[in-house]
Amino acid sequence: MSKEASDSNHQNSTGPDIAHKSARDENDSISGSSNFENNSSRVTPWEVEGQIDYSKLVKEFGTQQISSQIFEQFERITGDVHPMLRLHYFFSHRDLDVFLRKVESDDKTYLYTGRGPSGMVHMGHLMPWIFTKYLQDKFGSKLLFQLTDDEKFLHSQARTRDEIKHFTYENILDIIAVGFDPNNTKIIVDTTHIKHLYPIALEIAKRITFSTARAVFGFSGSTNIGMVGFPPIQAAPCFLPSLIEGKPTPVLIPAAIDQDPYWRMTRDIAEKMGFYKPAQIHSKFLPSLETQGGKMSSSKPETAIFTTDEPEVIDKKVSSAYTGGQATVALQRLYGGNALGCPVFWYLRYFFDDQKESDERFIKCVSGNLLCGECKSDLARDSKSFIRDLKMRREKAKDSVDKYMFENEPFKF
Ligand code: TYM
Repeated sequence: MSKEASDSNHQNSTGPDIAHKSARDENDSISGSSNFENNSSRVTPWEVEGQIDYSKLVKEFGTQQISSQIFEQFERITGDVHPMLRLHYFFSHRDLDVFLRKVESDDKTYLYTGRGPSGMVHMGHLMPWIFTKYLQDKFGSKLLFQLTDDEKFLHSQARTRDEIKHFTYENILDIIAVGFDPNNTKIIVDTTHIKHLYPIALEIAKRITFSTARAVFGFSGSTNIGMVGFPPIQAAPCFLPSLIEGKPTPVLIPAAIDQDPYWRMTRDIAEKMGFYKPAQIHSKFLPSLETQGGKMSSSKPETAIFTTDEPEVIDKKVSSAYTGGQATVALQRLYGGNALGCPVFWYLRYFFDDQKESDERFIKCVSGNLLCGECKSDLARDSKSFIRDLKMRREKAKDSVDKYMFENEPFKF
C-alpha cells in the first residue's frame, strides 16, 4: 500500500545534519495500540499519511533512537558508518545493540526483510534493501526475504490472484537486481512456501488474542478475516532461522518504520516460545516527488520513480516535481530556497549525493545560489543512470529466480 513521507519528517532548523539524542526508553508492552495516529498523521503497515514526526513515532511505538553507541558498534564491526545511518535515514531500532554484540562475538545471525507485491517497486522500497545488502556483505549473514502475496491479495478487494502473481515475479527481479548474495539469500513467497511458515504461524497465532491484534493493527468490524489472520505469517520468518539452525538464532529486520507493529506483536511472544526477540532497524520514508507532505504511492505513479520507468518518464516526473523553491528566479536569488521542504533535495541527499555534496547543495540552495532546475537536472541524470543499471541487472535476474527460492522450490506461475 502507499507510503507517504512528508518533508517535515526530515526538517530541522539547524540544517540537514540532524543530531539525534540517545534515548533508551523502550517499551515493549503490547497493551497499547501500535498504530500511530494523531491529528496530522497516520502510520500503519498499510497506510502512511500526513506530516510524520519521527521523534513522536519513536515515543509512540516505544522504540529507541539510534545512538552514538550504535555508531561505535558499527565502526568496530564494519570499519565505517553507512551514510543511511550517518544521515539518520535509519533513525530508530529495537535491540540493535544486542544483535550487533552477537555479530561481534561471531554468533550465527540472520537478516530478514520483505515486500508486499501490490505493484511495481519504486525507489523508496529499494532503500531498506540496499541497506540490507550492505549488512549482508559486512556481517556475512544469511537473509530471508519474504514476499507477502497473500497479504496484498487480501488487502485489496480489487486485486486478483493473477495480478498479484505478476507483481510478485516482477518484484523478485528487483530484489535479485539489488545484488544479494545468492548463496546466503532465500526468497519466501508466502503462497508457494507456506508449508514452511504455517507450523510456526500456528504457534504464534495461538498466543495472540483478537483484542491484541485489533489494538496493534487497528482492525475493525469491516476488516476481512483473512487480514485478521495474516500477521502470524509475517511474523513466522523471525523464528524460521532458529528452526533451520536448530538453536535460538538472532534476527535483525531492516525496514521502514511502518512495519513495526508486526515486530512489536512478535517480540511479545518470542521468549515465551523459546526464541530471541527479533531486532529491528527502522528507516524513514523516501519523500513523495509530487508535493510537500504528499503521498509516495505505487498507485500514484507521478509521486515516485519506479525501477521500470523509461528515461522520458523519469525526466517528466522529475521536471514536474514539487520543490522548496521560490515562485520566481529573482525571489529565489533574494531569499533562497527551502531545501528542507524539498523532496528533490532529500532524494538527492539520501540516494545520490555524498554528504559533502549534499551539505554544499543545502548551503547553495538556502543562500539563493542554486536554482531548482539545477537540482532537478541532477536528480533526473542520477536516477536515469541508476535505473538503467538496475534494469540490466533485472534482465539478468530472470535466469536466477529459482536459485534464490527457499528450499529450491521454484516460484510457480
Ligand atoms: P511493502 O511492500 O509495503 O514495503 C517494502 C519495504 O519498503 C519499505 N517502504 C519504504 N521505504 C522507504 N520509503 C518509502 N516510501 C517506503 N515504502 C515502503 C517498507 O517499510 C518495507 O521495508 N508487509 C510488508 C512485506 C514484508 C516485510 C517483511 C517488510 C513481509 N515481511 C519484513 C519488511 C520486513 C509490506 O507490505 O512491505
